[in-house]
Amino acid sequence: MTGAATTNVTGTLPRVAAPTSAEARLAKQLADRYLNIADLREASRKRLPKGVFEFFDRGSEDEISLNENRAAFRSIKMRNKALVDVSNRSTRTELFGKPMAMPLALAPTGAAGLTWYEGELEVARAAARFGVPFTLATPALTSIERIATVENGRNWFQLYMWRERELSHALVKRAQDAGFEALILTTDTAVSPIREYNKRNGFSSPFHFNPRIVMDVAMHPRWLFEVMLPYLRASGMPRPVHYPEGSQGRAAGSTVPSARTMQGDNLTWDDLARLRDLWKGPLMIKGVNLPEDAAKAVSMGVDAVVLSNHGGRNLDGAVSPIEILPEIVAEVGGKTDIIIDSGVRRGSDVLKAVALGAKAVLSGRCALYGASIAGAVGVEHALTLLRKELDTAMGFTGCRTVAEIGPRAVWLGPQPQA
Ligand SMILES: Cc1cc2nc3c(=O)[nH]c(=O)nc-3n(C[C@H](O)[C@H](O)[C@H](O)COP(=O)(O)O)c2cc1C
Repeated sequence: MTGAATTNVTGTLPRVAAPTSAEARLAKQLADRYLNIADLREASRKRLPKGVFEFFDRGSEDEISLNENRAAFRSIKMRNKALVDVSNRSTRTELFGKPMAMPLALAPTGAAGLTWYEGELEVARAAARFGVPFTLATPALTSIERIATVENGRNWFQLYMWRERELSHALVKRAQDAGFEALILTTDTAVSPIREYNKRNGFSSPFHFNPRIVMDVAMHPRWLFEVMLPYLRASGMPRPVHYPEGSQGRAAGSTVPSARTMQGDNLTWDDLARLRDLWKGPLMIKGVNLPEDAAKAVSMGVDAVVLSNHGGRNLDGAVSPIEILPEIVAEVGGKTDIIIDSGVRRGSDVLKAVALGAKAVLSGRCALYGASIAGAVGVEHALTLLRKELDTAMGFTGCRTVAEIGPRAVWLGPQPQA
């Protein structure tokens, strides 16, 4: 590594306990074996039952958006910068006035707890140790209060608003009471997406056994013994712990339990206004794709907008956030922080997003791949890879700090003549 880990640009990250010698050994093994996120993904594919892996990895319908998210990042080229002394670089930055190790936070991923026993806790621990925020999803298998026990955690809570608003507002209060830093309202999941592979695999969220998934799990005994059995011994079938008892119907293909009351298809701007009143800390709105929506959210006092197509998992054919970033920057840049997600797999993707005006990115699947290989140590490995790649791209493009990453670092292709 370079100065990335040592230069203190924007304040001091909290001290965290040094890794144990077993963790350090494991980290070294991972570093030798998994050289990029694609390696971690492949290992994850082998480790997890097919139904679980595809639930994490795949998109919706024809997976147009899933594929386009990667294609959109690939289509953006970078420019080397000549003769800049980049010997002292740093990937550090800040968000909401607090330092972070790089411009990246971990996205909410419901049922991350199926990657590893208490997977959400592992991801949150890794984020705290690495120095980036972690987002707990409403459908998580681990509770708000348990996540709050993570030492020095910078925790955000993601909200799916239910029909019964008072139940959702009670969750917001729990997150506030537990000291969560920020709240994200997800707006791109008004209806349940169509994910045919879940049905074919017999996979449902919440997890249920059926003949197909039993066969699948039997062929992945390590996951059975290291993930499922510990859950069954400790508390029974893993389930979304924030959902009220009785709300958890079988919902193949959906991350959202099927019971009528848990559907959030009547969410409006009034709900955002109510949340702005309820939540005292930074508030984000996730799943924004239209400039006028971003402008309206800003006028209502949100602290950041998150451009997202849910990692290609919801509306198939939804535009890729990196493509519309310049348009949204033109509308609300300078008035709010803009964060994007969907398709980040390399540190150079982070540089491209920041160059086009994003304050930071969210990453979903990278952490899931890492967690499914080695819990918190695997997530830290994924983050280390991304940071190293970002640092490398910064060196080539002549950016010594995140603040120096600007539009001159990228090339979008031939532009129309003025
Ligand atoms: C398995 C999985 C579960 C997800 N669950 C949620 C969720 O509960 N709430 C939410 O707002 N987004 C959810 N997302 C979307 C992520 O927050 C994020 O938008 C997406 O993963 C970004 O794309 P990437 O995976 O390519 O980084 C989920 C994504 C995945 C992969």
